Amino acid sequence: MGQSGVGKTTLGEYILWQQTARGRGWLFIDAKIDRDTRDHLAYMAKVTGREDELYIIDVSDPDNANTYNPVLHGDPDEVASRLMNLIPSAENNPGADHYRQSANHALTVIIAALQASGQLYHFGDLSILLQSDRALENLENDSSRA
Ligand SMILES: Nc1ncnc2c1ncn2[C@@H]1O[C@H](COP(=O)(O)OP(=O)(O)OP(=O)(O)O)[C@@H](O)[C@H]1O
Ligand SMILES: [Mg+2]
Repeated sequence: MGQSGVGKTTLGEYILWQQTARGRGWLFIDAKIDRDTRDHLAYMAKVTGREDELYIIDVSDPDNANTYNPVLHGDPDEVASRLMNLIPSAENNPGADHYRQSANHALTVIIAALQASGQLYHFGDLSILLQSDRALENLENDSSRA
């Protein structure tokens, strides 16, 4: 912690150099999007021969960034609840809560079927599967064959 210009980013870079040189891993989150720091980290990954282990996610410049799929990993219950957390809670609204629980159940089953059939998926696929009978039938066939 410290005010602007005190050296937080510079100290962070030194620590990440040490960690990278030791062959260890790290996760660095910078809310300020400092592209010089990004380039320094890319350089240190390169000189330590770890270029293909560096992933950069820059939400302000997605065309020039790695991607991350937040719904791909975890068991079906975990993924479904991660998705349900994205929509507002249905407290004190029994009607909304009913549909919430239906959606949670549907997502859990759909994600289990996708995982059973060994398919990769993203938000768009889940949206289609929740709306299309045919997509569900295809998935049912794929997962029973797998
Ligand atoms: N130990 C140090 N000795 C001399 N100069 C330093 C040291 N640490 C940082 N600096 C210099 O101070 C300046 C600001 O450092 P840095 O960008 O790391 O600050 P910061 O705390 O991350 O600031 P901000 O909150 O604005 O991101 C840079 O020019 C950097 O080179
Ligand atoms: Mg900084």
